[in-house]
Amino acid sequence: MVAFKLLAAVLVAGTATAQTFRRSAACPKLGCVYPPDQVDFIAGQTFDIRVEVQAPVNGSEAYNNGVPSPDFTLQIGSKGSKLQDVTKFFGIKADAEVESYNFTYFEDLFAKEEGAATPVNVLAKSYRNIQLHQPGEYHVVFTYNNGMQTTATWTVLPLPKKPKAKNIIFFLGDGMAGSMVSAARLLAHKTINGKYQTMLKMDEAEAFGLQMTHSLDSFITDSANSASALFTGKKMTVNGLNMYTSTGNAFGSPKVETVFEMARRTLGMQIGVVSKAYIADASPAAVCTHTSQRSQYTAIIEQYLTGVSGNYSWFPWQGVDLLFGGGAENFLPGPGNGNVSQFDRWAEHGYQVGFNNTQLQAFDNAQRALGIFTRGNLSTWLDKNVYPDTLANAIQPDGTQGAYDQPGLKEMTLKAVDMLSTRAKKRKTGWALFSEAALIDKEMHVQDTQRALGDLLELDDTIRATLEHLKKIGELDNTLIVVTADHGHGFDVFGSADTKYLAKQTTDRKKRDAIGAYINSGLSDYVVPDDVLATNHTVFTGEQGSGFPVTWDPRYAIAHGWAAFPDKREDFRTATKHERIPATKNAEAGSGYFFNPDDKPDGFGMTGNMDGTEAQGVHSLVDVPIYAWGPGAELFRGVHSNVDIAFNVAAALGLGRNKNVTTTYQK
Ligand SMILES: *[C@@H]1O[C@H](CO)[C@@H](O)[C@H](O)[C@H]1NC(C)=O
Ligand SMILES: *[C@@H]1O[C@H](CO)[C@@H](O)[C@H](O)[C@H]1NC(C)=O
Ligand SMILES: *[C@@H]1O[C@H](CO)[C@@H](O)[C@H](O)[C@H]1NC(C)=O
Ligand SMILES: *[C@@H]1O[C@H](CO)[C@@H](O)[C@H](O)[C@H]1NC(C)=O
Ligand SMILES: *[C@@H]1O[C@H](CO)[C@@H](O)[C@H](O)[C@H]1NC(C)=O
Ligand SMILES: *[C@@H]1O[C@H](CO)[C@@H](O)[C@H](O)[C@H]1NC(C)=O
Ligand SMILES: *[C@@H]1O[C@H](CO)[C@@H](O)[C@H](O)[C@H]1NC(C)=O
Ligand SMILES: *[C@@H]1O[C@H](CO)[C@@H](O)[C@H](O)[C@H]1NC(C)=O
Ligand SMILES: [Zn+2]
Repeated sequence: MVAFKLLAAVLVAGTATAQTFRRSAACPKLGCVYPPDQVDFIAGQTFDIRVEVQAPVNGSEAYNNGVPSPDFTLQIGSKGSKLQDVTKFFGIKADAEVESYNFTYFEDLFAKEEGAATPVNVLAKSYRNIQLHQPGEYHVVFTYNNGMQTTATWTVLPLPKKPKAKNIIFFLGDGMAGSMVSAARLLAHKTINGKYQTMLKMDEAEAFGLQMTHSLDSFITDSANSASALFTGKKMTVNGLNMYTSTGNAFGSPKVETVFEMARRTLGMQIGVVSKAYIADASPAAVCTHTSQRSQYTAIIEQYLTGVSGNYSWFPWQGVDLLFGGGAENFLPGPGNGNVSQFDRWAEHGYQVGFNNTQLQAFDNAQRALGIFTRGNLSTWLDKNVYPDTLANAIQPDGTQGAYDQPGLKEMTLKAVDMLSTRAKKRKTGWALFSEAALIDKEMHVQDTQRALGDLLELDDTIRATLEHLKKIGELDNTLIVVTADHGHGFDVFGSADTKYLAKQTTDRKKRDAIGAYINSGLSDYVVPDDVLATNHTVFTGEQGSGFPVTWDPRYAIAHGWAAFPDKREDFRTATKHERIPATKNAEAGSGYFFNPDDKPDGFGMTGNMDGTEAQGVHSLVDVPIYAWGPGAELFRGVHSNVDIAFNVAAALGLGRNKNVTTTYQK
């Protein structure tokens, strides 16, 4: 018996070889089932089923000269009952047509170097717009290639009890690891003898938890698939936005409904999307758009307005109620949108359109609105508030240089709350707002610590102001507030650095003597507003208790580093002219990215620890924090998988349904 078990274990390990070079995500054998094994559903959540039969032409899994058998069956049954054909089980009248496609992949790095690709031919069927209403376990059996089988167990979660919250604000600190929260606290809050005198708003959350960010096909996630997990409750594939990556086609793969879409479909809720990134970026797009390729920006903008199109749609989406952020370039007339300005198109659909903070604040709270304030990402809090000269390089939506009148996260969020609550009150519905501190992640990627932490403090300031505002307008007791991240970066602080001493040394080795650990780390040299009263050294004249430091470039800076970084130099100082560009192309040195000669020339060199084609750092494994306030906050305590976030949101809002519900949404 023992020997048999050992043998079985070895066989299992043998089939799981293709570690980095996978034939297909969540497809252990030659038959793939999407949604795959181990998936949980909210009762009544809409999704697509897709099965594929794959036949590699050669390589370790070669099958029948690359010819998949055209006979395959998909059966499903609830636990304890007989399996039925999928069409019968769901009452699908005509069976899905068989589709075919093909792709190639490399089995490993050796095959890649030799150019020995493995071609794979595929036959597939998709069943669109499925719902499972009865809670419990379901067994799915896919039989193909003359008797091979792939099975999946799906679970429909219990129906919700009474809803706890009417509204939700979902704050995403993109890339925000707990270590960054600790660093931001150190910069912005004063300690006396090791004890904080003031704290972050996040430190006062009613509930605190952690979530694990692994995705379906990788243990390090990108922002598309992790945001999809947070909003659909399904582990997703790399680059997939609420859609499993299973064909070369960006839109044909199987998709899953998000909690925001369910809130709109079943409760007619008002939906708002706010981000400091370009608004077609993965995290905001995960609220309500569906593509297996997150870079389909034009289509994403279209889906915010009209939803998934044609026979793939679940219900008349009728557009987000407000959309605020950057990325005007994706609204301009071009080949992807029939040469039509999307600003004009949204205006024709009844949206107010604004291009700067003045116009944002002037929006009529009762009407829907599109506010796009820059091309590309919005500017960081540090650029806007401490180094405003840098805004001369930020580009306005119309393409002219100098986007000075940009809103921050707080201005966008508070306006969004006013608009959504005004509109919802009139329609007697709830509302859901997604608000993203997107630049924490973008600045961590380029190793720009101070810009990243500035935006983290801006998030904290926004949470504080939002809670106060909700109280003022009488919505605090109705509103669940969740703050979390989609993944972290391997960032941490390990001491302080005497930047003056560091700059004066001439060798890398000597420069490192500037770093003080343990006793030599000393105390924080970042000056908080309380100290200004006494010392008067100011850069940013913050208000007392503002939650931001007034010095961003002190002599004794935090010494810090990352688990993943490109070739770079480090001096721990703040880049005052523009965000950091740690590595650049250097044709003489070879292909890929090398030390940027213009970045921190006085710093010491650090040879990158990733593949040399990476210009920036990458996401990391660390579990990320969850903070929550308001009705339903208690659901977020403890250690969760990222998919649990969606299920907890669904439970708090009471989204689960034991029948197909489509409520009339009032524009
Ligand atoms: C692979 O697919 C392409 C386009 O879908 C098609 O033109 C080609 O013939 C296919 N190749 C094979 C080997 O089936
Ligand atoms: C598979 O066959 C193709 C050509 O038929 C060849 O180019 C490729 O190197 C082969 N791949 C492997 C893994 O043997
Ligand atoms: C749910 O109802 C809508 C509207 O009646 C319909 O279009 C859709 O096909 C139904 N979906 C399912 C899964 O029954
Ligand atoms: C409708 O479904 C068919 C068959 O799956 C597909 O070929 C077609 O592209 C779909 N249309 C749209 C608009 O999605
Ligand atoms: C869009 O403009 C391009 C370039 O001017 C032109 O080639 C193309 O035909 C236009 N497309 C449409 C749908 O008008
Ligand atoms: C805001 O944008 C409008 C329209 O583009 C423009 O007329 C106005 O001058 C802008 N205001 C500021 C303060 O930049
Ligand atoms: C957003 O910011 C990041 C970090 O600077 C940059 O890599 C990315 O290209 C920017 N995207 C756009 C569309 O501006
Ligand atoms: C602090 O600065 C203000 C204005 O910059 C000045 O009026 C005041 O005298 C200064 N206080 C001290 C203690 O230096
Ligand atoms: Zn990222």
